[in-house]
Amino acid sequence: MILPVVAYGDPVLKKEAVEIDEQYPDLQKLIADMFETMYHAKGVGLAAPQIGKSIRLFIVDGSPFADEEDDEPDPKAEGIEHFKKVFINPIIEEESGDKWAFQEGCLSIPGIRENVTRHEKLVITYYDENWVFHEETYEGYAARIIQHEYDHIEGILFTDHLSPLKKKLLTKRLGNITIGAINVDYKMSFPGHKKQRLI
Ligand code: NI
Repeated sequence: MILPVVAYGDPVLKKEAVEIDEQYPDLQKLIADMFETMYHAKGVGLAAPQIGKSIRLFIVDGSPFADEEDDEPDPKAEGIEHFKKVFINPIIEEESGDKWAFQEGCLSIPGIRENVTRHEKLVITYYDENWVFHEETYEGYAARIIQHEYDHIEGILFTDHLSPLKKKLLTKRLGNITIGAINVDYKMSFPGHKKQRLI
């Protein structure tokens, strides 16, 4: 089932999300719905707060970043074609390496892309959809997607990383997203429209 993606300005996107346990109801259905929602919106990552649930869960599929066959190999894309995962109760244990800038976008902030600077490498611990514990190291685009989605469960958006001036220049466009005065080709819920939310 495709779920509406919560738009910029909704308080759920600014909340620090809470951990879940194995008793969390209908988790497999929620994960399946999140993948369907993400693919429909052509995203490479989706965090639970973006569909209105303030829990520490996000999904990723980085395969759109994979090299075309005739492209020069991009070291940042290594392994990205198999980077489809579910992260439950993740903790970024360590970030390292040089910082690099990349134009990020967000399904909750359609139409806006800006450079965000982050470390190139990280170590993360998490549970997968079968509640198996993992500790893994990522770099390149995979690390970048994780950092962006991890921010979501901490209540941070990529726009929070921009300079005050840059953010000021975006104020009107961000306000238009909140009230739904935008063209977007996937289902969204706009806080400026809504009477009430049930979480
Ligand atoms: Ni996002």
